[in-house]
Amino acid sequence: MRECVIIDGVRSANSRAHIEKGWFRAIRPDEILTKVYDGLFARNPTVKPEDIEAVFVGCANITGMQNDIGRISWLAGGFPESVPSNTLTMQCPSGMAAIEHAARAIVCGEGDTYLASGVEDMQKVFMAMHMDFPPRLLERYNIMDIPMGSTAEKVAELWKITRDDMENMAFWSHKKADAATKAGKFKKEIIPIEGLKDDGTPFMVDTDQWIRGDISREQMAGMKPGFKPDGLLTAATSSPLTIGAAAVILMERSKADKLGLSYHLKYEGGAMAGCDPTIMGIGPIPAVKRLLDRKGMKVSDIDLWEFNEAFASQTLACVRDLGIAQNAPFENVNVWGGALALGHPLGESGCRLVVTMNNIMKTDYPKAKYAVASLCGAFGNANAIMFSKV
Ligand SMILES: CC(C)(COP(=O)(O)OP(=O)(O)OC[C@H]1O[C@@H](n2cnc3c(N)ncnc32)[C@H](O)[C@@H]1OP(=O)(O)O)[C@@H](O)C(=O)NCCC(=O)NCCS
Repeated sequence: MRECVIIDGVRSANSRAHIEKGWFRAIRPDEILTKVYDGLFARNPTVKPEDIEAVFVGCANITGMQNDIGRISWLAGGFPESVPSNTLTMQCPSGMAAIEHAARAIVCGEGDTYLASGVEDMQKVFMAMHMDFPPRLLERYNIMDIPMGSTAEKVAELWKITRDDMENMAFWSHKKADAATKAGKFKKEIIPIEGLKDDGTPFMVDTDQWIRGDISREQMAGMKPGFKPDGLLTAATSSPLTIGAAAVILMERSKADKLGLSYHLKYEGGAMAGCDPTIMGIGPIPAVKRLLDRKGMKVSDIDLWEFNEAFASQTLACVRDLGIAQNAPFENVNVWGGALALGHPLGESGCRLVVTMNNIMKTDYPKAKYAVASLCGAFGNANAIMFSKV
């Protein structure tokens, strides 16, 4: 069986998707994505763009500036016309699906070298832009139960997650992300890109915009609910609207060896799973179970976890239901913080989780064997992916 390894992975910093305050408010998502590619190729000179078999690009909202962003950005960025690109959506797990498509192509022998990426600009292509639901879907589901915030509230209610536990999780997400940033951990993965300060001054953005080192439990406790008057979730316990891009180079192992490239993680498999769209946040539960069952493995076999923190309620429901952890700070989950602090640019996040996991396994978990990343997505699509140390 052929093996697929990660040669390298990088990302942009995550900017707020805010028309006045977002650091990336004036740069298009295709430009952010290709600047990430430029950074990735620059630090991996052995891998030439023309050697890429195909580019898989995950993006949740493939419309407007993000319409076929895979191909359009590749051409706009001056990359070879001979390299095809497949823009794909699975909502939030899109960037992870991109990695899986590339990894599977390598494992089954369709090609040796792929680029997989994820991108989203939630300011210029806002959530559900141009969405037109079929009437039959609305006969099946109450439209009021479909928006992401409603699903997060429903999960909090059904899994009995308290506001206090969610704010505790947000607190630790920011504290871990702040500690990792201050320790320079993200320097290895962030390609600096020019952005704008609040006053319009240009500067190189090399840190994530949303992280609050001074996060306060008291302040969070005073925040108004974000989605319904008597709701439990606030802007602090929901991932913020974000802009960002991430990319990885994947290669067939023996080819990497022939080229003398170093790597430390290989693809073990992925599992997509579906669930009730009105509680979409629990999707990682069936996705992780399906992945572990197929591998004949248990939760306790996994050394490191990355769960996308779309909402504190759904992450807590997942880690509790799977028997991984009860409350933050989680020991081996999101050790450099999660999306509540780092941000969640929808289609980017599945790829970003793998980029970060690749780094954590190298620097903080050198003796660990298995790592799993998972995330939920709108309308009940979820994904989980496993890598192992080689
Ligand atoms: C929750 C949500 C509605 C809030 O949106 P919003 O009202 O535009 O709020 P913002 O994110 O800009 O934050 C509002 C304010 O709260 C503040 N805030 C957020 N978290 C905070 C915290 N932990 N402590 C203190 N203040 C905080 C922000 O800084 C901001 O104030 P500022 O503009 O002065 O800086 C929005 O972030 C959202 O929809 N998130 C979910 C996105 C989603 O569905 N993703 C897909 C998941 S599957």
